[in-house]
Amino acid sequence: MVKVLAEVPSHSDLRPVPGSPGIPLVGHTLDYIRDPLALFRRRWEEFGPVSWLSAARSRWVVVLGPDACEVVLANRDRAFVNGSGWRRLIGPFFDRGLMLLDADEHLKHRRIMQQAFTRDRLARYTESLHPAIESGLDGWRPGPDFAAYPALKSLTLDLATSIFMGGAEGTTPQEMAALNRAFIGCVQAATALVRYPLPGTRWKRGLDGRRELEAFVRSYLPARRRSDADDLFSVLCRIESEDGHRFDDDDVVDHMIFLLMAAHDTSTITLSTMLQYLGQHPQWQQRCRAESESLGTASPTLDQLGRLTSLDLVMKECLRLVTPVPGLARRAVTDTAVLGHYVPAGTYVTVVPHFTHHMPEVWPNPERFDPERFAADRREDKVHRYAWEPFGGGVHKCLGMHFAGAEVKAVMHHLLLRFAWHVDPGYSAPLDFTSLPYPRDGQPVDLRPL
Ligand code: HEM
Repeated sequence: MVKVLAEVPSHSDLRPVPGSPGIPLVGHTLDYIRDPLALFRRRWEEFGPVSWLSAARSRWVVVLGPDACEVVLANRDRAFVNGSGWRRLIGPFFDRGLMLLDADEHLKHRRIMQQAFTRDRLARYTESLHPAIESGLDGWRPGPDFAAYPALKSLTLDLATSIFMGGAEGTTPQEMAALNRAFIGCVQAATALVRYPLPGTRWKRGLDGRRELEAFVRSYLPARRRSDADDLFSVLCRIESEDGHRFDDDDVVDHMIFLLMAAHDTSTITLSTMLQYLGQHPQWQQRCRAESESLGTASPTLDQLGRLTSLDLVMKECLRLVTPVPGLARRAVTDTAVLGHYVPAGTYVTVVPHFTHHMPEVWPNPERFDPERFAADRREDKVHRYAWEPFGGGVHKCLGMHFAGAEVKAVMHHLLLRFAWHVDPGYSAPLDFTSLPYPRDGQPVDLRPL
């Protein structure tokens, strides 16, 4: 049954947002978790680029396709904010992370944090990545059914501990495993149906997780304040913006927790998608390996990683095929319009890059793995400014995207030099979208040492 989100004021020539609430209480949450692309394709066909549905116990205006995404992400009339949009999903767990700040406060914090992501600093983070990757991969046990996803997840958590935290001196492996569970609790609470801390619920696990993470990060704060080391934590403690602003202790804790989350699952799913497609396309695997071998080093610098152009094409294509952050949350703070549809103040809005990335209207043969579509002579992404948007757009565009590129390429470089792998060409990863996407089967690959 089609219903409108809100009646349009009588003096306006805008159209209402059409949509439907879905199942009572649950809305469309389960449809989304099972197969967001199918859900959004149905809505695109029935309602077009702007419609509403119920999910995570709220009504959301779903914005589909590059034109509508551009209106919301570019946010030219400043009608949309991040904080109260994202807070509805992940607020209690990642509150006051950069992505959840708005307006002048966001700008002030972003200017400080940018100093942690300059090219010089990225070059130094990249140097420290290699030994951490080497020692992580030393623990891998290749075999015909190697579960790639959990192995990559634990590797990226180790990298976060060393590059972000500057190590976790005094923390036992059991405590690290508990920390990982705390993370998962926070991230998975986003789509919880019960949004109250009842025992045994995802919401409660999320809140407990946040408390554990805070205690963990805070326990290292005094040592990092004193340190002049190059890990992100120590850097956040001492950087200041050009106009002299610095982070206080609470800011550092909030930003660290958000950064660990922002960097961890996103890089993991990017790597596991790359492993899958390179396993299914041996000619691309060989092409990337040949490029890595031609660098002549196991520990390339940031500049050298920039020369891995085939790997870059593969990474871009994998970010398109499985978009690590499939949807972005916003909330309208004034009455506004998206492509001629009336969106009243207070409305929750979600922008869905993952859908854009699979639109046959935007991408020729979108389900096909075809990294060359990003090559200089094709540049299919140039068809629209918002055709390829895995890192978002506008003032909240991912601050860590160059770091992510360096980390993903560094890990892949090591993998290509150490292993060869195969994945059945008919395999399709059973992705779960309860939080950020992950393969429910652990994504088995046939992994062999070289
Ligand atoms: C493949 C990996 C990654 C993907 C796909 C990704 C994606 C995104 C997206 C889509 C946003 C925008 C959210 C919005 O507009 O609401 C974002 C924001 C952000 N990301 Fe990433 N991210 C990745 C890795 C990283 C890494 C490694 C870091 C840090 C080292 C990072 C730090 C951030 C920060 C700080 C923001 C907030 C920026 C702001 O609000 O000003 N991300 N990311």
